[in-house]
Amino acid sequence: MNFNLEENVPLKNLTTFHLGGPARYFVVAENLEDLKSSVSWAKEKEVPVFVLGGGSNLVVSDIGFPGLVIQVKIAGLEILHEDEEQVLLKVGAGVRWDEVVDHAVACGWWGIENMSLIYGTLGGIIVQNAGAYGTEIASVVNHVEIYDREVGEAKEFFADDCHFGYRSSLFQNNERYLIIAAVLELKKNGTPNIKYPDVIKYFAEKNITVPSLSDIRTAIVSIRQNKLPDPEVLGSAGSFFKNLLLTPEEYQNLKEKITANFNAETVAQLEGIKNKFPVVGAIKIPTAWILDVCGLKGERVGAAVVYEKQPIILTNQDNAATADDIMNLVKKIRQTVFAKTGVKLEMEPELVGFGQKEIDGYFRL
Ligand code: EPU
Repeated sequence: MNFNLEENVPLKNLTTFHLGGPARYFVVAENLEDLKSSVSWAKEKEVPVFVLGGGSNLVVSDIGFPGLVIQVKIAGLEILHEDEEQVLLKVGAGVRWDEVVDHAVACGWWGIENMSLIYGTLGGIIVQNAGAYGTEIASVVNHVEIYDREVGEAKEFFADDCHFGYRSSLFQNNERYLIIAAVLELKKNGTPNIKYPDVIKYFAEKNITVPSLSDIRTAIVSIRQNKLPDPEVLGSAGSFFKNLLLTPEEYQNLKEKITANFNAETVAQLEGIKNKFPVVGAIKIPTAWILDVCGLKGERVGAAVVYEKQPIILTNQDNAATADDIMNLVKKIRQTVFAKTGVKLEMEPELVGFGQKEIDGYFRL
């Protein structure tokens, strides 16, 4: 058993945003037994629990977390089944996601190559149903192994029971189920899934008509490196806001607002962009575009700054921002966007250690 409890551990260095206060209590879990003992310690002490993975999708409050933070470092990449067509790969919750993609591509297994260079661990990827360039983790999950805190035992959830949606799952804001591992279904004879404009453009420029699996990984890594800040150099939590998935009626309302508040060229851009991103059952409008036309690139509060190259990303300049700076910037952005477009932006990262009153204050429109 590994129960090495630490106190007042700074969470700053364990998140890609590099901000926020300490964990009152902190423990590392390397396996199911560690998870169990950590959870029962917290229950006995009556303190709340927060499970930390790669820390790439979090805003930790400046006061920090008042309970026990369990950092999940459950390792393991194991083939459960292999035949001519597919591989069932079991991945521990604590494995760095990009290591999984790298391994799969090196072995010739298709399915997750479009999700190259996403920071975070397998556990976090599952919790938020992470995705990129038309692939979501949900599309390759066979089942997820979890620890059910309520009944005190491990269980398996098949993909259909995980309630995966756009950047969401059953495991989000859910203290009952802690992820131990996931089993992914990868294909040996896959085909490229290249529908996104950035990826199409990359291969057109390189004159590659039938990209190989490793070509695709190389392309995605290159596109992301050009667009997204490296968290070691500039703190961020990746995309800070969700994209807009609108019904035809919501789209009409947006178009009316854009027509009223912007020029004809912007309206034409909106009409063009509405068909660029294939999503079933919704009209997808990139939040980056909304922020761009609202003139929010480079907007700041203290050292919290909207990234110029991709305004959906909020950054922590010189590691000098507080969580309060970030959230006040969020408030400013949401208010500007709401006034100009009628859209209520939703955030993607999880908030840790904030009180409900505080959250309501930041989110008031
Ligand atoms: N755009 C602008 N102005 C800009 C930048 C972008 O108008 O300054 C418009 C462009 O039309 C561009 C579009 O926004 O084509 C979309 O931008 P991009 O392709 O960079 O992707 P995104 O929609 O902003 C989403 C995910 C990313 C994922 C990429 C690629 C969300 C919230 N974000 O971003 O995921 O990597 O698509 O598929 O769904 C993350 O979740 O942390 C994340 C990085």
